[in-house]
Amino acid sequence: MITIAIFVSGSGSNMVEIINATKHGILKNLARVTLVISNNQSARAIAKAQAYNIKTICIKRSEFNNENDFNKKILKLLVKEQIDIICLAGYLKMLGINIINTYKNKILNIHPSLLPKFGGKGMYGIHVHRAVYESKESFSGATVHFVDENYDTGQIILQKSVSINRNELPKDIAKKVLIVEHTIYPQAIKHVITNYFKIPGGV
Ligand code: GRF
Repeated sequence: MITIAIFVSGSGSNMVEIINATKHGILKNLARVTLVISNNQSARAIAKAQAYNIKTICIKRSEFNNENDFNKKILKLLVKEQIDIICLAGYLKMLGINIINTYKNKILNIHPSLLPKFGGKGMYGIHVHRAVYESKESFSGATVHFVDENYDTGQIILQKSVSINRNELPKDIAKKVLIVEHTIYPQAIKHVITNYFKIPGGV
């Protein structure tokens, strides 16, 4: 069984979809979510994870003297909890290079656009959908990708598009894209687990 840690900063709807997939969906018998990490004490995702009896920890950058100590603490925790895969689900903080190197090709992120379009620093949440709207795109979508040391540049695992009507505002595009996110994130995790991991017991 592959153990997943999910990193969150906000509402955690993707997190919930991943947890549900491990309990009753396409990740059942393949993976379980054993840890949820947040940098934001008031993230709604924390209470949602607790409702599933999943261990949640808030690690705030402000509690450390420097970035290095902050990232060391996170990595130590991931190793202690024997985490195999990290899923970023609306985590608004760059991971430290120590974590990225230790978990190479084992960290996934979901981004609410068809990368490489509308990615990069500052491109998150409604900013992405506003940029898509202003560019008068006919399509947007979601991308699950591996995480490297830059914003949104890691290898793409899975993408799905949605068409955009002329009368749709950024908030409408966001809603449409989120629905797609919820389907492709568990699918991408399954793809990574079944293709990159040798699972004891031959599942
Ligand atoms: C999603 O749009 C995701 O693409 C982005 O952050 C948002 C998180 O939403 N990385 P939620 O917290 O999963 O509802």
